[in-house]
Amino acid sequence: MRVSLETSLTGSTALAPEAVALMATYMPLHRLAGSDRLPERRELQHSQVLQEIFRQQIIEPREEMQLARDIPSLTDISDPVSRTVRDQYEQNPYPRWREIARLETRPIEAVLTGLFPYLRQTRVQWPRTPRVLVAGCGTGRQSITIAQRFANCTVKAVDLSLASLAYAKRKTLKTGLTNIDYAQGDILELRHIGERLDVIESTGVLHHLADPLAGWRVLRDLLAPGGFMKIGLYSETGRIPVVAARELIREKGFPATPDGMREARRAIGRLGPAHPPRRVLDRPDFYSMSTCRDLIFHVQEHRLDIPTIASWLSELKLDFLGFEPVSAAAARDYRERFPDDETMRRLENWDRFERDHQSTFAGMYMFWTRDPGQAVSPE
Ligand SMILES: C[S@@+](CC[C@H](N)C(=O)[O-])C[C@H]1O[C@@H](n2cnc3c(N)ncnc32)[C@H](O)[C@@H]1O
Repeated sequence: MRVSLETSLTGSTALAPEAVALMATYMPLHRLAGSDRLPERRELQHSQVLQEIFRQQIIEPREEMQLARDIPSLTDISDPVSRTVRDQYEQNPYPRWREIARLETRPIEAVLTGLFPYLRQTRVQWPRTPRVLVAGCGTGRQSITIAQRFANCTVKAVDLSLASLAYAKRKTLKTGLTNIDYAQGDILELRHIGERLDVIESTGVLHHLADPLAGWRVLRDLLAPGGFMKIGLYSETGRIPVVAARELIREKGFPATPDGMREARRAIGRLGPAHPPRRVLDRPDFYSMSTCRDLIFHVQEHRLDIPTIASWLSELKLDFLGFEPVSAAAARDYRERFPDDETMRRLENWDRFERDHQSTFAGMYMFWTRDPGQAVSPE
């Protein structure tokens, strides 16, 4: 079908709208030879749906290629694992999101005391113009959310993948936000950026490094005294179904190509209900190429447990402030079980809780920490 479409595109044979739409479900149309001409073809112009597909698959990728040229490079990328991970996200930026909710902009103090009310009882020097680093910003959903969330903040957003950064930049331009700077770089090399940050967020990233703690140490050293850090790390328990799916993919030898991913999805879909890999069918990420690659075909992932995180926090001299988000049901069950832990900050309790509620951190552990430049209130 590809060849026949490309032949029609270079000649004058009419194109069937259905054939073009069908092709678009298999590969992005900008990869077709002569794709520039598709949006202008008379026989396709009456279809609103096709025009929307052309915007998504031809016009926006073209814009991103332009934008990528102006994204500065902050560091070398020489670590072999960083290079392999970068290559994955150059092919499959994560995630290709469309819309995000607009958040109310509030002072950082209001946001963090809203999440952790006990912080109101502690002495904190709240930064008035928070400098934020998003380490591994992906396609910009996180950097845009933060830039809207904290009043008067400036955001530096760094990622290995230029394709992801270009997507992020395009989406940012649409929002009209002017307080985000994007740059390509490796977390492992960020030590030299010569800046201390009031807030650092790195969610869904450090577990893709060869040594997650090495990356976390670099970020830790960039945190200003009393600064806040949000981290997201995969949970070994939460990812049991994903591990089972990865194992099946390894056994069957499905490659991380569009065809390999389709085959893997079909194989998983055919399993009986009791098979652990089948539970990944509940994950929205299973259903698109980029997100499926990230979910079950990743070239490099670590999974952790709460005792390991607790020991790393202690080594890094960071105070644990609490998980965000935690579902309302999990928070209620936790409070019932550990009524003495009013601030919900005891990691040994959370470890016990997760053992009995294995999907609590199915996405990942997401939590806030703080440099104890100022003491956190006693429990
Ligand atoms: C799963 S995505 C998460 C993106 C974003 N944090 C989010 O939550 O939407 C992981 C991102 O981390 C980036 N990444 C992985 N290792 C990195 C490293 N060593 N330095 C910088 N970015 C890295 C990848 O390029 C990818 O865009």
